[in-house]
Amino acid sequence: MPQLTFDGPGYFSGTLVPPGDKSISHRALLFGALSEGSSCYENFLESEDCLCTLDALRAMGVSIEHAAGSRKVRIEGDGIHGLKAPARELYLGNSGTSIRLLLGILAGQRFEAVLSGDPSLSSRPMRRVTDPLKKMGARIEGKDNANFAPLTVRGGELRGIEFDNKLSSAQVKSALLFAGLYAEGPTIIHERVPSRDHTERFLGAAGAFFKKEGTCLTVEKSDRLRPFQTKIPGDISSAAFFIAGAAMTPGSEVIIRDVGLNPTRTGILTVLSRMGADIEFHVTQEVPEPLGEIHIRGKQLRGTGIEHAEIPLLIDELPVLMVVMSLADGESLVSGAAELRVKETDRIRSMAQNLKAIGASVKELSDGCLIKGVGCLRGGKTESFADHRTAMSMAVASLRTKGSILINGTECIATSYPGFESDFKTLFKPL
Ligand code: S3P
Repeated sequence: MPQLTFDGPGYFSGTLVPPGDKSISHRALLFGALSEGSSCYENFLESEDCLCTLDALRAMGVSIEHAAGSRKVRIEGDGIHGLKAPARELYLGNSGTSIRLLLGILAGQRFEAVLSGDPSLSSRPMRRVTDPLKKMGARIEGKDNANFAPLTVRGGELRGIEFDNKLSSAQVKSALLFAGLYAEGPTIIHERVPSRDHTERFLGAAGAFFKKEGTCLTVEKSDRLRPFQTKIPGDISSAAFFIAGAAMTPGSEVIIRDVGLNPTRTGILTVLSRMGADIEFHVTQEVPEPLGEIHIRGKQLRGTGIEHAEIPLLIDELPVLMVVMSLADGESLVSGAAELRVKETDRIRSMAQNLKAIGASVKELSDGCLIKGVGCLRGGKTESFADHRTAMSMAVASLRTKGSILINGTECIATSYPGFESDFKTLFKPL
């Protein structure tokens, strides 16, 4: 099993242009495929997860130009009814976004498709998506009442429903918004706690019948989506490892350029600032997605609390925030984050186990954790638990360890950030 060693202690110094945003890259491919005509995107994230979406669309007859190693992708969309029955199973690897968003699109197709994934994806709950899609009229089969992949979906004849997005999941919301494009009557989603809104922005830009009024999203049957050309912003969830690492380590100074600053994704900046971090950012482009620059200078931080309403704005950044909390002064409490237990791995458990192994004080709670900050951590052996964000978070911990951190099972990093190790080495300066 591949492993990586990070030799601490040290600090981060320099400039990072993070790789393209994963959530937006998936959506760019999906909207490109359903539009009529040529869509062209720059700074596409060529990671394993996004390539799974790309491969599934090709298997449904979509013409996609993308050369290996390139960040440019051109899609010849054949319109909202242009997908063809795949001749093979659609394998979606580790990617929850691929399987859940595709389920929404496939619910509107008149052919049958089988969606499968790796052991982690096959153990993640899908009823959150398949239940409402079945209510809309799709037929979906799979283990435990269509809760687990492999899933067989046959769509067609959908009708709109009204849905309360209680989990505040952007994947669930997006699947239903896609299905709503095919449904008779409005599909209405209530979202009391906002989650990332990339799908909504794409719907607006593509000219779909979509509106947002307060916390209520409505989409209606749309026969035509407009293609478009845009540059995908850098992924703040990937930059987060360097933002958090720099913020918590005195002596660090890092500038992050061309990074997405969509307010539904910047919760990490709010929380780090509350912990006393020296962070400035400014937006240089507003539409279709806010983008800009972040400047971070390291210092000793203090503990904080994170509650339910803030969780969707930083859900993917919680593992690295657990590292920051372990090194901050005082106590930190994370609650309302039970969703972390059904990510690529149970991230409350994976992070608590790893952090404890290197000397942190972490108590697992059913929906979060209680962390008492310690001055510094020791080196040691840790595990990725086949989860990219757990692995990268543990690399960040090495900035403030006495000794090296070994991380087992680092191949998973390629699902979201293939260049992580090289970017880490460029910014890392030993003490
Ligand atoms: C994502 C939504 C989030 C996030 C995931 C990507 C998306 O998942 O954790 O990494 O692209 O919509 P949930 O919708 O399950 O919270």
